Amino acid sequence: MAKPTFYITTPIYYPNDKLHIGHSYTTVAADAMARYKRLRGYDVMYLTGTDEHGQKIQLRAAEAGKPVMQFLDEIIEWIKDLWDKLDISYDDFIRTTEPRHTKVVEEIFERLIDQGDIYLSDYEGWYCTPCESFWAERELVEGKCPDCGREVQYVSEESYFFRMSKYVDRLLQFYEEHPDFIQPESRKNEMINNFIKPGLKDLCVSRTSFDWGIPVRRDPKHVVYVWLDALTNYITAIGYGSDDPKMRAKFEKYWPADVHFVGKEIVRFHVIYWPIILMALGLPLPKKVYGHGFLLMKDGKMSKSKGNVIDPKLLIDRYGSDAIRYFLLREIPFGQDGVFTPEALVERLNFDLANDFGNLVHRTAAMLHRFVGGRVPLPGARTDAEEELAELAGQTLRDLEQHMDEMQFSVALADIWRLIRAANKYIDDMAPWALHKRGDEERLRTVMYTVAETIRLVSVWVQPFIPRAGLQVLEQYGIAPEFRTWESTRTFGAPIGQSPVEQRPPLFPRLDVDEELEALAGLTRGRDGAPASRATDAEAAGHGAKQEGQRVESTATPTGVQTKETIGIDVFDQVELRVGQIRAADRVPNADKLLRLEVDLGAETRQIVSGIAKHFQPEELIGKKVVVVVNLKPVKLRGVASNGMILAASTEEQLQLVTVPDFMPNGAVVK
Ligand code: MSP
Repeated sequence: MAKPTFYITTPIYYPNDKLHIGHSYTTVAADAMARYKRLRGYDVMYLTGTDEHGQKIQLRAAEAGKPVMQFLDEIIEWIKDLWDKLDISYDDFIRTTEPRHTKVVEEIFERLIDQGDIYLSDYEGWYCTPCESFWAERELVEGKCPDCGREVQYVSEESYFFRMSKYVDRLLQFYEEHPDFIQPESRKNEMINNFIKPGLKDLCVSRTSFDWGIPVRRDPKHVVYVWLDALTNYITAIGYGSDDPKMRAKFEKYWPADVHFVGKEIVRFHVIYWPIILMALGLPLPKKVYGHGFLLMKDGKMSKSKGNVIDPKLLIDRYGSDAIRYFLLREIPFGQDGVFTPEALVERLNFDLANDFGNLVHRTAAMLHRFVGGRVPLPGARTDAEEELAELAGQTLRDLEQHMDEMQFSVALADIWRLIRAANKYIDDMAPWALHKRGDEERLRTVMYTVAETIRLVSVWVQPFIPRAGLQVLEQYGIAPEFRTWESTRTFGAPIGQSPVEQRPPLFPRLDVDEELEALAGLTRGRDGAPASRATDAEAAGHGAKQEGQRVESTATPTGVQTKETIGIDVFDQVELRVGQIRAADRVPNADKLLRLEVDLGAETRQIVSGIAKHFQPEELIGKKVVVVVNLKPVKLRGVASNGMILAASTEEQLQLVTVPDFMPNGAVVK
């Protein structure tokens, strides 16, 4: 039976400059999805590429003193090298200067003129060259471009226009019939209210003021203007309009796309103009457009002029591609904006990768060698502890699949890490070293097998995100090919006994925090040349204290704060705190202390019952951003399910919720 297909795309990037870590974000996310679908047995087509026409490219090439094509070739080589370094498993890379694209765009343009969808008229307005955007007089800010603040020029020129207005009703009907088309959901209303309701303007689709573009066949003083040229890459790359029957069959096989991944700033083009162009061509529409959020720096958007751009190659050279992929996917809930901070990067690498996953793999291999001859042993009878871990593994797989289907990468990774932490705790609780000492061979074999089996599952599951580490561990643990498949992870208890296990250096080195912060400050430079993004002394001190947590003894004395027993950072780290926003609140019937809250955690909205009814009216809580413990076992309070807990500061007399400034995104990690 033919495999089901899955066609996924990234935006095609402007090669007017080297790409930065923000562009890598989309590409890494799409790659994780592509790899996941391949593991799930899909025939995947993963497309990326470059959007090579337009005045900006022409100007940049002139500035560099190079012929345009040479300028482009050099940047494309740099971009492909970046994707290789980041282990991007794209199946095709389309350049809009390739004949397979230009020829078809020319034909499409002719056809749309013949159909009356494209007409000739005059364009008048203000034009910003760097942004390649037209603005109406009223849209300008103090006479300048509202996006970048630079000078605009008044242009009046003959242009072709696409009659968008003709298709608006059909588009709205399509949205109605396909409620999942625009993701996340919130972006849909923004589109309808901001762009469609005020009256959709026809789109200018040709220019005569520059010539670096695809000429209009019947009127070659015009070149096709960016979006019609750019968007059609998604169909030309897979063979639409090709003369080659094999390519046409490819188009039939993969179109419509399953998902276009795009940054939120270009959702509009993908959910309004693109569907309308496809309607005019009589083609089916893509199944989904996912508009993800932006990776920001502490001082806002990444931009050359702010000098806060990070070169992804420098990061990969220093930390490896898995580390960067992990950070991007784990740190920022897909769909929301997130801030890149060097501190967060180093923490994620130290805690999640080195401490949790790396250490699990490393210490287990060492124990397998020390206690049972360097092979995964055959297990004896399971006890409750093994059953519990096996059950958690099953639950993890179910959660992981659900979150991947929802494209919630950060949550999917949190699912896997829950099992990794549980496996580390299982080792601590079972203490194989003690079993070895007292000669309890059967228990020792069972425990070591159980840990190895958990490592097998985790290593298969992490492959979409950190493919190198996943594969390396499967090899290190001698896992046979049939137990590396996704399907094989549905069973906890595969016959991997007797597999030889190698001892290898740790997967991820533990980093020295201060040294890395210093180095990272050097990679991102501020406008004045001073290192940017360095934590303030106070922040760094706070951090240091946390890092050192395991080594520092409690200094509490009877006159200071009375504490419970001192815990290590690893224990604290098991508590997962996140920013949540209260969306709804009401009283729990027959319970005078309890309120039922609906709390938006970005990736999901949870019901939490909280004992704060004596201190607040439900309505005053709406909109508050609070800190939520998200990994507490769900309970029922007075028959109402509660899934999490909200933090509050209290004295005998009063209680205040711990709140977070409004600009922090829902779902942001608190630590
Ligand atoms: N060429 C157009 C897209 C045409 S698609 C038919 C374009 N190119 S771009 O080079 O400007 O890249 C835009 C895309 O890069 C964004 O949509 C987003 O996917 C990604 N990102 C650029 N900066 C980003 C961040 N700071 N954070 C996250 N993604 C970012 O627009």
